[in-house]
This record gives sequence, structure tokens and C-alpha cells, in this order.
Amino acid sequence: MNSTAPQLPAHPVLAGQKALVTGANSGIGRAIAVALGAAGADVVVNYVVGDDAARAVVDEIRGHGVNAIAIKADVSSEADVERMFAEAIRELGTIDVLVANAGLQRDSAFHEMTIEQWNTVLNINLTGQFLCARAAVREFMRRGVVPSVSCAAGKIICMSSVHQTIPWAGHTNYATSKGGIKLLMESLAQEVAPLRIRVNGIAPGAIRTPINTSAWNTKAAYDRLMTLVPYGRIGEPEDIARAAVWLASDHSDYVVGTTLYVDGGMTLYPGFATGG
Ligand code: BGC
Repeated sequence: MNSTAPQLPAHPVLAGQKALVTGANSGIGRAIAVALGAAGADVVVNYVVGDDAARAVVDEIRGHGVNAIAIKADVSSEADVERMFAEAIRELGTIDVLVANAGLQRDSAFHEMTIEQWNTVLNINLTGQFLCARAAVREFMRRGVVPSVSCAAGKIICMSSVHQTIPWAGHTNYATSKGGIKLLMESLAQEVAPLRIRVNGIAPGAIRTPINTSAWNTKAAYDRLMTLVPYGRIGEPEDIARAAVWLASDHSDYVVGTTLYVDGGMTLYPGFATGG
């Protein structure tokens, strides 16, 4: 046999790794931060508002016997992101995994959308991922591969959305940011793969989090949502967290520049199940 596939370490799959998750005090980011800790990583819990929630996530992660710290920083601010990475590296020694997750919606009909709504979404969802990924790549390049930790020099997971491919009326700013994340992720993946840095994306569908409460918190809304989800249930943050742990681990070592859709089939054009 002539294979260069890596020999995988025994569980936990992320033992010895240091991860930074943005927007980690609620929703999908929170579930990912906890799951990375449960998988053996030390975790930086980034957040911008909600000190108590961030502290609770840190406590929960520490309950898994790993280290965790909370760092308050606005991902759309270059100075904040630089300060956050400096502090994370000072406290944990390095960063092996970035989950660029922080994101929000500021929905509006297009003709009424303000420049502030546009800029807020683009600055946090897209520029925030650029700033964090750039800081992570710099650290991965400085450190290189440490074979006892991971066969990659670093992993970046860009949190996207089904709306990187599904157009979304009334949410033009958000869909634009996610479409941008797709090509940010793919172009960066192409550029840094020779350095053994793996960049991938996750495209969640409808997940039960505070960002989309109105889409699932009444029976009528839930039933309407289910017409868009062939698998017949809403996603839970843990569905995304499990995908993130896999993408962060050496189990996905040959996965480079891919978007993993975790959407219950939302991108399968469910309207065509009976039509067309
Ligand atoms: C949005 C949610 C929405 C889901 C499916 C996500 O990216 O943030 O509000 O429910 O896509 O449309």
C-alpha cells in the first residue's frame, strides 16, 4: 500500500489544539465553541455584547477539562481583531483553528435599506471574516505544521449560509455577504493550501437560534418553514457544531476549499419535489 493519508490520533480528536470562535456566546457559535472544547481543544470565546453569556460558555467549556477564555472584540474592527489574536496567542500559545462565525441580519426591503443596514452586515459578516482569517493565516505561517498536534498548519472554517447560493429577497445585504464569503473562502483556500492551511465553509440552513426566531417560534411559522426543508425538521446548533469539529480535525485532512451544506436539504429546490 502506498498512501499518504495521515494516521489519525486517538480521541479526543482536537486534543492539544487551540481554537478561536467568533460570535461564540450564542447560537451556532456557542454550540461550536462547546463542541470544540468537548473534543479536546482549548477555546477562545469571542463576543461583542453579553459578558455574562460569554462567561457561561467559558465555564461550560472548562467543564470538559480544557482551557477557555473570553475575549471581547468587534470583528469588523481591525484594531480589535489584532488585539484579540495577540491576546489569544499570549494566553494559549498559538491558534490552530479559527471558526469565523460572527454574523447578523439587518433585514429590509431593498428600496428602504439604509446605508447603515448595508454596511453593518457587510462589515461584520464579510470584512470580519477577512480580518480574522488574515490574522489566523499570519499565525499559521509563523508556526507551520506541528505534527504532534495536527497534520495541517491550521484550519479556518468560514460560517456561511444556504444564502451563499439561494437568493433571498428582503435580505439583500445578508445574501450578498454570504455570497462574498463563498469566494473569500475558496480564493483563500486556493492561496494557502500549499502552506498546508485548510480553509472550508459551512452553509447552515434554518437552525434554531436567536437570528431567526420568527421563522420557528410559532406553529404557523414552523409549518411554513418546513415547506422549505425536505428532511422535515429544523436544524439544531449541535448539527452545525458536529460538522465544525470534523472540519477542524485531521479526520477531514483532505477536505480543502469545500462548503459543507448542513441544511436538511434546503438547497435541493424543494418546490420541485412535486412540480417542474
Ligand atoms: C439565516 C436564517 C434563515 C436561514 C435559512 C440563515 O443563514 O440567518 O435567518 O432562517 O438562513 O433561510
